[in-house]
Amino acid sequence: MEQLHATADADALSARISALLDANRPAVARQLLSAMQRLAPPSPVISELAVRVAVGEGRPEQALEELDAGISQFPDCAALRRSRAEIRLGMDDRIGALADAAEAVVLDRNDPAAKALLGVLLLEHRRTKDALACLNEAAAADPANPAYCQYLAAAQEADGDIDAARATLATGTASAPTRVDLRNAAILLAIRHSDFVGACRLAEEARVAGVADACTFGLMGHALSSLGHHTDAANAYAEALKLGPEDPYVRHLVAAAGILPSEPRAPVDYLRAVFDGYAERFETHLIALGYRVPGLVRAALAQHPCITQGERLGPALDLGCGTGFVAVVLSDLPVAPLVGLDVSSRMLEVAAAKQLYAELHQADLMSFLKEDTRPWRLIVAADVLPYFGALADVLAAVHGSLEPGGWFIFSLEELLPDHQGVVPGGGEWALQRQGRYAHGIDYVTGAACHAGFVIRGLQRQTLRHEADAPVAGFLAVLERPAT
Ligand SMILES: C[S@@+](CC[C@H](N)C(=O)[O-])C[C@H]1O[C@@H](n2cnc3c(N)ncnc32)[C@H](O)[C@@H]1O
Repeated sequence: MEQLHATADADALSARISALLDANRPAVARQLLSAMQRLAPPSPVISELAVRVAVGEGRPEQALEELDAGISQFPDCAALRRSRAEIRLGMDDRIGALADAAEAVVLDRNDPAAKALLGVLLLEHRRTKDALACLNEAAAADPANPAYCQYLAAAQEADGDIDAARATLATGTASAPTRVDLRNAAILLAIRHSDFVGACRLAEEARVAGVADACTFGLMGHALSSLGHHTDAANAYAEALKLGPEDPYVRHLVAAAGILPSEPRAPVDYLRAVFDGYAERFETHLIALGYRVPGLVRAALAQHPCITQGERLGPALDLGCGTGFVAVVLSDLPVAPLVGLDVSSRMLEVAAAKQLYAELHQADLMSFLKEDTRPWRLIVAADVLPYFGALADVLAAVHGSLEPGGWFIFSLEELLPDHQGVVPGGGEWALQRQGRYAHGIDYVTGAACHAGFVIRGLQRQTLRHEADAPVAGFLAVLERPAT
């Protein structure tokens, strides 16, 4: 009788704690949890509640401790394994999270949430086929779950099956028409694969369905602009700005459309959003565009006295290293140690897999140059300064970080006259429609000299091809004078 009573009370307490956590009141939930822990014997339910309370209090380490204790007491509880996988993922312990998610699936073959989590982690570890299998099962078990739909589409895209990804997102949108994230994922998928007409159609469908989302309109503007419909693009961007006036991604695209005045550099949040989303396809895309900048950097370096004499040149810093193309083209030269840095964690993950960098850092290059006091003998920025308009600060920061005699090699896109023959930005720099800045050669020369550099080379080059047309730019080789 006593036991029955305790159980009934424990159930009521458990429901109450859950409700308090849902209402974002973890402090009160903590008091009830203590009462429950006194009243009822240890159980997986209590462990899970303790984890949720710790998470609600913003204490992931405490949550992890609760989970470690709970799992050692109830090693066969799949839910605790899944919770620990989620907490470990939140703490960036991806290997631990993968192991726990796999264990959770083994312990409970009917838990779609565990399968979905395992699928996402496998995808991150580039085990695309295994990820697909898990996510297919999760989505089949819970077809109405929009998150599973998005994960599955991501795995299908990574597997190269774009039609399947498109169909998955279309089915998901049909069953959850108010889910803006699904609609945006479908529009982005179309944009990533240069299907700008399809992207506009999907964005228009979203608009007709009553979606009022800054990102949807921003993407619509991007697709329209890529089709050359600049007036319509400007209208879509203006709409996006109304809906998300502070969104850095939207603001940058809107500035690129000429609706807002340009900032002197692209915002870090914008860069992260763009390159995290681009990392997976970056290399195949750039190879398809005939991307030449890393090769041009290598050719310029072949003139360096250390390299001509077969001496080691280092330490060297690859600013905005992305997925590590520069490290690949320099890998047979005595450039070492080579350190890479980038704002995008996803780009860095791809770079890390190459194992060519002595160190990799996730940082904005301006902060890094300010905080890292090492003197560098070589600094490279391949296709990175197009995300800066005004160059004075970045050139001064690089100059200050180079040792005397050090070289700075970088590329820029050339500022060209518009269709009326007018060179924008007074011929100095201007933000282009794709969100990158272009620069005038005289401006670059002046800024380099003003920062204290000697110009060893500043040559016009084709950087890549877009829509079968060459993209004009420069490769600059600057030296911080030895005296
Ligand atoms: C077009 S990619 C070029 C990547 C690489 N350098 C290459 O040549 O393949 C530009 C890279 O610069 C990074 N980037 C742009 N601005 C940056 C900044 N302020 N700080 C750090 N990384 C930046 C982006 O995240 C992206 O990975």
